Amino acid sequence: KIVPASAVLMEKGNYRHFMEKEIHDQPEGCQRTIAAYVDPITARAAVPGNIDWAALDRIQIVACGTSYIAGMVGRYLIEQLADLPVDVEIASEFRYRQPAIRASALVIAMSQSGETADTLAALRYCQEKGMKSAVVVNATESTMAREVDVVWPIHCGPEIGVASTKAFTAQVSVMIALAIAAAKARGRIDDAEEQRLVKVLLEAPRLIAEAIGLEDAIKDIAAEVARARDVLYLGRGPMSALALEGALKLKEISYIHAEGYAAGELKHGPIALVDEQTPIVILAPYDSWFEKSASNMSEVMARGGQVIFITDTEGARHAPAGAKVVITAPACDPLVSALVMSAPIQLLAYHVAVHKGADVDQPRNLAKSVTVE
Ligand code: G6P
Repeated sequence: KIVPASAVLMEKGNYRHFMEKEIHDQPEGCQRTIAAYVDPITARAAVPGNIDWAALDRIQIVACGTSYIAGMVGRYLIEQLADLPVDVEIASEFRYRQPAIRASALVIAMSQSGETADTLAALRYCQEKGMKSAVVVNATESTMAREVDVVWPIHCGPEIGVASTKAFTAQVSVMIALAIAAAKARGRIDDAEEQRLVKVLLEAPRLIAEAIGLEDAIKDIAAEVARARDVLYLGRGPMSALALEGALKLKEISYIHAEGYAAGELKHGPIALVDEQTPIVILAPYDSWFEKSASNMSEVMARGGQVIFITDTEGARHAPAGAKVVITAPACDPLVSALVMSAPIQLLAYHVAVHKGADVDQPRNLAKSVTVE
């Protein structure tokens, strides 16, 4: 279907690119997602579908690209809150390596489009082995949505920008709700804790909006990052997944080489990249991993590394001095930090790409949906 240029302009509203619009859509998008997975009146998880969380012994997540990274965040939360083992694997690896499958596990495919060829093949492989199946998906008419036992829509509206943004935070929102539901059903949390966590999740859209408010501060550093040849992203816990997402976003749209690493791996390789020309983005809200990430920050600064420290209000107070820039996101419960910290890394990639004059919505060689191998 050919969309007239005027309609495209209208859909973008006052934004230059769909990606920019979609970043700004996230508070509203996540609000819609969350509303479908919790009951705001009782502050209880209300996950649709007939999943017996207490009987499950394992979850297998399969996905590609940004959806895979959303699955990684999900693994942290589900294992920690619900004590339920979760494997997350890149679908193209999973489908060809003859993985050991137990029919008692639940397979969750994560896919914005519901059409990615490798994810679909991995999903079907699990179904053939007798696993119950679910998909966390944006396109509810898609092949995956038609073929699974349980559909978990992300409700964030169509995503046009090739680099995924609002679908990512919507996918993570669903994973948070699943983690709460599973934790409750498995007796890992009581009613009061469930209600506390649901209230934290309901507050997340407001905090995402506050984090998007950091845009001007992020724009200020874009010109310098745009000059870099390599950029390193580091984080621990769920932030190690976001480090991968930050690096992926940057390379996708600005064509700068970027690597995301679990910060504990710094000494096992990436520290060799550190010099005065390499920006190092450290993602470190003030959580149980903060001290460790702060000491990684000191290690890279001691080697001349230019640190862009993305933290929260408490983290900014405790950060070692000497970062080139400190970006201070609003403080939040660790349950939702992956949601709140997403906006700064998306905006950084976006403004670097705009500064370089890149075609943000249609990056070279990439497609929105990869339906071939
Ligand atoms: C492509 C897109 C990515 C997306 C990935 C997985 O590579 O460019 O943005 O994350 O496919 O797509 P899916 O639709 O399965 O989430």
